[in-house]
Amino acid sequence: MKMVSDRKKYFCGGLIMTIKLQIYKCSICGNIVQILQEGDGNLVCCGKEMELMGIQYDSDEVGEKHKPVTEIKDGKKFVNVIAHPMTPEHYIQFIETFTDDKNELHLKFFKPEDVPEMDISFFNNKSVNSIEYCNIHHLWGDNVMPENENGDYSI
Ligand SMILES: [Fe+2]
Repeated sequence: MKMVSDRKKYFCGGLIMTIKLQIYKCSICGNIVQILQEGDGNLVCCGKEMELMGIQYDSDEVGEKHKPVTEIKDGKKFVNVIAHPMTPEHYIQFIETFTDDKNELHLKFFKPEDVPEMDISFFNNKSVNSIEYCNIHHLWGDNVMPENENGDYSI
């Protein structure tokens, strides 16, 4: 995983480049995009700069939980957020898992009432990171990512 110091080069001269797999959201229309190719331009939607989404961590959550959990079941490896509601008003919209080098990723979308879980056995023993998106509480992760220029954590 990249450390904070490795990312400083992206912020040289006030120019903020995008970073592969970062997630941005439009605060006006709700569009969410993910970076597949890094570039040095700013992402704009509805005439406004899109916001880089921070990733939250909280190992002390009580009640509904957002942290993606990795479990082995019947010899297969799964990541899930099953301790979170899946109602039409409040649910996990997607889970994404990616290798440390970001060369492989798996993304699965969910609807209300689905079980928010996906099989990640094909990653074998590679070191991976998982994030999930709650429609109300936004992005959460299982491994702490580097700090971004906003003082948040992001990919
Ligand atoms: Fe939530």
